[in-house]
Amino acid sequence: MLSRRSFLWASGGVTAMTALPAAAKRALATTPELVASAHPVQLLPSGYPETSIWGYGAQTSGPEIRVKQGARISRRFVNQLPQASSVHWHGLRAENAMDGVSGLTQEAVSPGNSFDYDLAAEDAGTFWYHSHNRSAEQVARGLYGALIVDEPTPPDVDRDVTLMLDDWRVDPKTGQITQDFGASHDLSHGGRLGNFISTNGEATYRLPVRRHERLRLRIVNAANARLFTLGLQGLDGWLMAYDGMPVTSPEPVPETFTLGPGQRVDLFVDVIAEDGVEALLGRIDQSKGYVQAIFPVSGSSSANRRLVPAPLPLNRAPDMTDLAEAATLRLEMSGGAMGSMREAIWNGYSRKAGELMENGQFWAFNGLVGMTETPLARLSLGQVARMTVVNDTVFPHAMHLHGMHFRVLAQDGTPGPLRDTLLTLRGESYEIVFAADNPGRWAFHCHMLSHAASGMMTWIEVTA
Ligand code: C2O
Ligand code: CU
Repeated sequence: MLSRRSFLWASGGVTAMTALPAAAKRALATTPELVASAHPVQLLPSGYPETSIWGYGAQTSGPEIRVKQGARISRRFVNQLPQASSVHWHGLRAENAMDGVSGLTQEAVSPGNSFDYDLAAEDAGTFWYHSHNRSAEQVARGLYGALIVDEPTPPDVDRDVTLMLDDWRVDPKTGQITQDFGASHDLSHGGRLGNFISTNGEATYRLPVRRHERLRLRIVNAANARLFTLGLQGLDGWLMAYDGMPVTSPEPVPETFTLGPGQRVDLFVDVIAEDGVEALLGRIDQSKGYVQAIFPVSGSSSANRRLVPAPLPLNRAPDMTDLAEAATLRLEMSGGAMGSMREAIWNGYSRKAGELMENGQFWAFNGLVGMTETPLARLSLGQVARMTVVNDTVFPHAMHLHGMHFRVLAQDGTPGPLRDTLLTLRGESYEIVFAADNPGRWAFHCHMLSHAASGMMTWIEVTA
């Protein structure tokens, strides 16, 4: 049974989890400006103090940016933060110069300055945007939003619902985000986990529905490090897309499914709970169930459920069948607490683990800590690459490749769906393949943002 408790701290008196109207929270962006600033919001349930977050507007989790496939996303990013920042469009296969990775594709935009982003939305699907400078701090403070690219013909659903899942580390007494962004324990263990879990910035997100309505749920894991293991109750349907990329044939939604940081799924689900009942999106945490979102059912939209949905139109998929010619790459992750890393190369010199730790560096890819002068791999445009990804640590890592999607090869070599973020658990190894069809310098890093800040960050160059 799922409990109503959305808090991880013991919260005796929290009963009034009044939600603000969803519309107020997720107003569509109509202005070409995307202004990052600090502002107070009622993040915690009413009765708790306000929280000063950093956001793209006076709201948590937003604004949602929405365009039609093929259109351009044009935003003047205005930085009113006390720190330099940049905006990355996670999962969009767009122009490298617009990728927003400070230090790699652009200089970070200093406070008071702006940067014009203008990129093509080639793929329809569920994406998100977030800060890509000091991300472990800036994303934790709230700098992210959903980025939805609509199919030219809207699919047959009654409602299209974005659910941004996050966890925040807040002091319940002051309501403020704790400023321990570089805490060694987070850097060296599972990353910065929050104590307040939200959906679209709310403790208890509620959306009234009718029986037999078909909802498109776009679920985004925007957390710094938390894995969300989710399940449905009173809702049933199909998994339509991973990381923005539709699957060839819709798969029944599994009983539970896990999203690593940065990952997304699109589900088409029908409300099967009876009138008067609450359907739920639940979260499983150390074998306990919690409510992540509530869908109270009242009335019904039709006497019967609809038929099985047609698949979503596929996005462009590069040809990666010829693996005989593929470049062979390897990425071995090491380090972290209880890891076996004794030394590694950082800023060009080999250092002992102790010296690395003193400098807040805990992880390495192929024995190299953090960004390097030369890329992990240099590929020529159109080349197919096959990479073995080995997690030789005792923590999960969510590896995100910018600019191109990859497929995971099954044991027998069958390619899986296109993805942009690969969740690896301790000791696991995977084979991925991708076509280097987008020229430029592409970041490749762990999306546990504290890990990226402490060594798990590299890049791949695709030369024209
Ligand atoms: Cu979602 Cu390099 O990030
Ligand atoms: Cu990691």
